[in-house]
Amino acid sequence: MQSRYDLKYPATIIFGVGEAYNIADHIPRNSRTLLLCSERFSRDSKFLGIREKLAGLDMRLAKISGHEAPLEELERVVALGRESSSQTIVAIGGGSVIDLGKAAAGIIPLEGDCADYFHGRKKITDKGLFFAALPTSSGSGAEITCNAVISDSGSRKKQSIRDKFLIADVAIVDPLLTISMPPKQTAYSGLDALTQAIESYVSLSSNEISSALAEQSVRIIFDALPAASSNPDDIQARTAMSNGSLASAMSFSQASLGAVHGLAHPIGSLLSLPHGLVCAILLPHIFRANICTCRDKYSALARACSLKDAEELLEKIKLLLQQLKIPPDFSSFKADPSHLDFIVANCRSRSMLSNPRTLDDNEVRSILLEAGFSCNTTKLEDIRLIDQPRMHSDV
Ligand SMILES: [Fe+2]
Repeated sequence: MQSRYDLKYPATIIFGVGEAYNIADHIPRNSRTLLLCSERFSRDSKFLGIREKLAGLDMRLAKISGHEAPLEELERVVALGRESSSQTIVAIGGGSVIDLGKAAAGIIPLEGDCADYFHGRKKITDKGLFFAALPTSSGSGAEITCNAVISDSGSRKKQSIRDKFLIADVAIVDPLLTISMPPKQTAYSGLDALTQAIESYVSLSSNEISSALAEQSVRIIFDALPAASSNPDDIQARTAMSNGSLASAMSFSQASLGAVHGLAHPIGSLLSLPHGLVCAILLPHIFRANICTCRDKYSALARACSLKDAEELLEKIKLLLQQLKIPPDFSSFKADPSHLDFIVANCRSRSMLSNPRTLDDNEVRSILLEAGFSCNTTKLEDIRLIDQPRMHSDV
């Protein structure tokens, strides 16, 4: 755990049911031109209600596909923002929409193509346009973070444009916006938030504050995710999940993540799977790989959740995954041993560096084979773990 830390959050974080409709109160008074990024145009009454509140501004609309934040889509949004001299960006959507809006707000006032920033040829050097983020899912934490995850179909790379200047000026977390999220998406995004909280808790870059937030997040998500997922209109469960997700984001944005997220990006690109699903499948595998290095930390987190120890925490996670119908490995998604080289070559992100256990390439390969990139061992492993709690000879 770090004894010195430096916390960076949006200047204003607003939480509350119905707060999204007060968006106009948070736009700077001298801002007349606005670019509204969303995937929800014309279909969603909540979105239309928010848009109505911004009607006094010269507004352009950027419709976002909402999947994986492609580089070419970012180029299109930046071109629209430059052409319309936008002064403010408001992004309403899931993590991909918010990340696109965030990157666009940073790049629009600068010179060069988005590819320059994606490939690191140019850097974000100053605060960009005023940026407001309104998440419609409970999981990505994009409303809090200083990075935008962008994917490039050409190189099949998914990586971050990262800088402190990209942090939103205002994040409005309104549980009402998550009400229409379907059960599967609710489960995936909620499990992403859970993974982020657990990874940040055991991260080498954790601190006292991030750890307290992570504990709170894990407690809330264990409690509320099944209800939010099975009953999409349960505002109490949605409010709890929005709180749990926000606490997770406030933790991992300061403490970084771990090997689940290091591996999730190349696996998600290769198999075209939702990020939350990839994280959920990887979580028990990385937990088992890490447990010999940080059993005490996992046990402390377990006790904070009224569980006995690290092994009981792992069982609780596995039961939740079963309940939400998450498969135990990637074997049903055409995972193949020929994918290993690509994943190993593209997993060395910042997240991997924060993982409590240093994993060399051979260890990463072993974990991937166990996680279904080979056709023989994984299922046997999982059956043994489910049937015999607290018997982890593999660690
Ligand atoms: Fe994540």
